Amino acid sequence: MGARKKITVVGAGNVGATAAHWLAAKELGDVALVDIVEGVPQGKGLDLAEAAPIEGFDVRLIGSNTYDETDNSDVVIITAGLARKPGMSRDDLLKTNADIVSKVVDEVVRRSPNTILIIVSNPLDAMCQVALKRSGFPKHRVIGMAGVLDSARMRCFLAEALDVSVENVTAFVLGGHGDTMVPLPRFSTCAGIPITELLPKDKIDAIVKRTAGGGAEIVALLKTGSAYYAPSAAAVEMTESILKDKKKILPCAAYLEGEYGVNGLYVGVPCKLGARGLEQIIEINLTAEERIALQKSASAVQELVDVLGI
Ligand code: LAC
Repeated sequence: MGARKKITVVGAGNVGATAAHWLAAKELGDVALVDIVEGVPQGKGLDLAEAAPIEGFDVRLIGSNTYDETDNSDVVIITAGLARKPGMSRDDLLKTNADIVSKVVDEVVRRSPNTILIIVSNPLDAMCQVALKRSGFPKHRVIGMAGVLDSARMRCFLAEALDVSVENVTAFVLGGHGDTMVPLPRFSTCAGIPITELLPKDKIDAIVKRTAGGGAEIVALLKTGSAYYAPSAAAVEMTESILKDKKKILPCAAYLEGEYGVNGLYVGVPCKLGARGLEQIIEINLTAEERIALQKSASAVQELVDVLGI
């Protein structure tokens, strides 16, 4: 595929196909879109390629039912797996998606032994653990997308409440990608001003609650699937930081080995993403209350990992 960067997206459902769309629109590299459903990755890949003359992006888009086009990918985004239906928790997906992610990892790692894996499949933190163990990759090359999405939701709600640009608002969400996630108002700002200075506590509490239920809110509205615009945009922001070595600090699921008092488990923490993948985990001092919430969230992830026996 030449000198351009190459990104494989596994899963050509809504999240995968929309990720391919953002990747192409940003000209981050050539895109290989893989899915087991016959014709779907080919059709979506071709359709996107046909949008290129209009939108003016010069990248190659190939859809396929096999992994033959994925060799030597710089980044592989794994979205494969079943999505939630209304009333289903992310954890209901556990075993089915663990099998799917394992098979996908086997295929991609064989053809791209030096790639960086970005996991999107749910339940997110447990699927990262599956991908890490199955790939045999070092932890800096297996990273999970969750915090960028969860904090984007919080930023969206905060910007609306403050009636300011979303670009002015930062938000921090730690912990697992589930109901126990830990949004941190103390580290969330508007133009550098902590939001705790700008909004009353009851309003902040409501936004924190809405953020934690952000995925379920979309599932309940859509009825036949889960969110995909924001999840795919989040995976692409992580990809961009890696491919361009931007070294952005983003909340991601990372394999912790003692950081934040957690050992041998994926949990969402602030991460520096650059050319080597996860380049640094940033440790911040938490209050006792925040630390307890993070521990609770880590325990919820540990339970799933224990069920899988990995
Ligand atoms: C969500 C799903 C993708 O948070 O986990 O929307």
